[in-house]
Amino acid sequence: MKRRLVCSLLVGAALSLPALAQRTTTQLEQGWRFSREDKPGTAAANFDDRKWSQVTVPHDWAIYGPFSFENDKQHLAITQDGQKEAMEHAGRTGGLPFVGVGWYRRELEIPRDLGQRRVRLTFDGAMSHARVYVNGQEVGYWPYGYNSFYFDITDYVRPGQRNVLAVRLENKHESSRWYPGAGLYRNVHLTIIEPIHFSTWGTQILTPQVSKDYARVEVRTRLSGLGTLRSGRLDLEALLLSPEGKVVAREQRAGYFGPESVDSVFRAGFDLKAPRLWDIGQPQLYKYVVSVRHEGKLLDRDTVPFGVRSIELKAGEGFFLNGRKIKFQGVCLHHDLGPLGAAVNEAAMRRQIRIMQDMGVNAIRTSHNMPAPEFVRLCDEMGMPLMAESFDCWKMPKVPNGYNLDFDEWHERDLVNLIHQYRNSPSVIMWSIGNEVPEQGHAVGTQLAYRLQAICHREDPTRPVTNGMDNPIEVLRTGMAGTLDVPGFNYRPFLYDTAHKVLPQGFLLGSETCSTVSSRGVYKFPVVRKSMAKYPDHQSSSYDVEHCGWSNLPEDDFIRQEDNDWMMGEFIWTGIDYLGEPTPYYSEWPSHSSLFGAVDLAGLPKDRFYLYRSHWNKEAKTLHILPHWTWPGREGETTPVFVYTSYPEAELFINGKSQGRQKKDLGVKIADTENDQSRRDFVRQRRYRLMWMDAKYEPGEIKVVAYDAAGRPAEEQIVRTAGKPHHLELVADRSTIAADGKDISFVTVRVVDKDGNLIPDDGRLLKFAVSGAASFRAAASGNPASLDAFHLPQHHAFSGQLVVLVQGGTKGGSATLKVSAKDLPTASLQIQVK
Ligand code: GAL
Repeated sequence: MKRRLVCSLLVGAALSLPALAQRTTTQLEQGWRFSREDKPGTAAANFDDRKWSQVTVPHDWAIYGPFSFENDKQHLAITQDGQKEAMEHAGRTGGLPFVGVGWYRRELEIPRDLGQRRVRLTFDGAMSHARVYVNGQEVGYWPYGYNSFYFDITDYVRPGQRNVLAVRLENKHESSRWYPGAGLYRNVHLTIIEPIHFSTWGTQILTPQVSKDYARVEVRTRLSGLGTLRSGRLDLEALLLSPEGKVVAREQRAGYFGPESVDSVFRAGFDLKAPRLWDIGQPQLYKYVVSVRHEGKLLDRDTVPFGVRSIELKAGEGFFLNGRKIKFQGVCLHHDLGPLGAAVNEAAMRRQIRIMQDMGVNAIRTSHNMPAPEFVRLCDEMGMPLMAESFDCWKMPKVPNGYNLDFDEWHERDLVNLIHQYRNSPSVIMWSIGNEVPEQGHAVGTQLAYRLQAICHREDPTRPVTNGMDNPIEVLRTGMAGTLDVPGFNYRPFLYDTAHKVLPQGFLLGSETCSTVSSRGVYKFPVVRKSMAKYPDHQSSSYDVEHCGWSNLPEDDFIRQEDNDWMMGEFIWTGIDYLGEPTPYYSEWPSHSSLFGAVDLAGLPKDRFYLYRSHWNKEAKTLHILPHWTWPGREGETTPVFVYTSYPEAELFINGKSQGRQKKDLGVKIADTENDQSRRDFVRQRRYRLMWMDAKYEPGEIKVVAYDAAGRPAEEQIVRTAGKPHHLELVADRSTIAADGKDISFVTVRVVDKDGNLIPDDGRLLKFAVSGAASFRAAASGNPASLDAFHLPQHHAFSGQLVVLVQGGTKGGSATLKVSAKDLPTASLQIQVK
């Protein structure tokens, strides 16, 4: 006997869906207890955890510090960076105490009338080696800390009684190349569902035909638990909702299932006229709503947002979105949120994406691991394309206790979860299967690349697959680069041409580029191009002339991307600074966070942000001068002035005296500049930045006047020598935040003189107090060598600035942030919590 599934459909109706009691999902945020002790019996239901600390999840146990070079001190050679001998690495993983065991416990409410319903726990990510126990019994294990996973815990729960969930996490020493975070740093969800229900991530929405007049939408939805159906008919209803929430579904498909089926797939197809296409900055999101009824009773309903858009690769041209060629102006981003550590927070993620959009970024690479679901949803909702990456290593280690130990057993499950979870997200435009894996020089590497790519194609035939490779010669020799849909090259742009000539694809991606280093507001003299430069203050120059041994300056990539049609674009390392990897200060404690970002760890733009903005952001004008102009003691000394601007030409004035006009030199080409002399003379830079190398410092003001293409004055900017520190200036990114207990206002604090000029070297201690409807959450200055704990209400300014994070409570009202400092009047700012 065959059970027949009948699919019925409403077309053109306004949507009013009945409340759904059948599926309940609770985000488990409150009520957790936490301990770093690892005692036998901790998983038991009756274990006494009353002395443990009370925490809210998402929770990163390590971000509270204290910083110490003893935390995960690594003694090894970073071979990717060219190190031949083992050496001491102090702040490589952030100098924070993430290594070791942590336990979380809380009660679960399981209704007395659970009946035949199923109970499921979903972890968006748990760092790491999660062992999950319910009422003392182990229900599952998941080693990889970045992935989402779920367990059916029905057989372990006691309906109507006390149920205890316990999670043991363990991070090994020398298991990461950066700060990974620790604990239940992403959300945990409890779902109760009917025995017949839509499977987790069980829907796949395909748009095989997309144009501006028509799109075909094909859907496959997996139903679980059909084996429990004894008799009667199942009705399935599928709706497509437009971005405004109107029903626009037009077609239906019925499915047939054999008597033995446990899981089955329901298929439907829809024709959409004049579809609203998802695009960069145009986040048009449709919804697919699917319901299943048994004898008229609603069993389950699932809502899956998706986008209609096309992606295509063309030899000689690269990547096309909705038929339009896109060159990636991309950034690599780590998952940490600076002062919040790895603990997921939507406001902080949204701010990151907003800042990147302002820089002109049109794609993010989630290096080198799966992103949080909130991050992907925000990219869907904000129109930001994503390259979702999975692994930093395969079988061969980069660090002794990394994912290499789990790869064989887990890689397929990890990749499948990533793809199933995000395959309907329009923002995800490419999968990446790895980053600089040591297998690049080995035949087995090519086989593994082939295998991982095949898993991606099997689970999602619609997206291309790439791999970030930093060994161009070897990956051409072994065939790894030729195997991939998109050959992704990390660094060494001077080899792009050679690779392009021999590769079959007809295009190349700069999957990781640049690695220029700089510290916000810090300038080094003389201004010369340097590789791996170190200074006693542990900073790098914000003239943007310093890079790593394997890397280069932004313009070395700009020119390759612009002058080669077959280059698909680039993903710079990195958009924003992250915790760990303080290269080039490998052993120099207290350096513990990166200097690679165009934006610092606090989210404040460095000068480099404006260089990218001037080149990438075509919607806004950029005119930015550096350095600051407060240099007591440098009077008469050469103090070059750079201007990052979208205008073609500008004139510099020092105290009213013209220093001459400079024009971007568009005659600079790749071939003539591939030599040390050109590099030393900043020849490529002259095509993208304006530089007055001989400017002499004298106190007063520097003014730049920009000229448009017709040579007319278009805009000007002035930077003045600062006087004495006079007051604090407070500026909130958002002055009204939600009363959900999570939303954050990011307040920039600046130490200024009486006229509002920034005191550019001020590093005084600032103290914070928040009263009313919000509380102090954290502070950060962007100083990669600061040992101030982020969560304490005091922090030293860096280059005259820092950022305070004010978190709204759950009740509406007004909140006041007060910032005080020695010798300055206390400043305050109001924030509304609604
Ligand atoms: C790359 C690597 C990144 C980061 C970067 C620093 O080789 O993929 O994770 O380490 O170097 O320049």
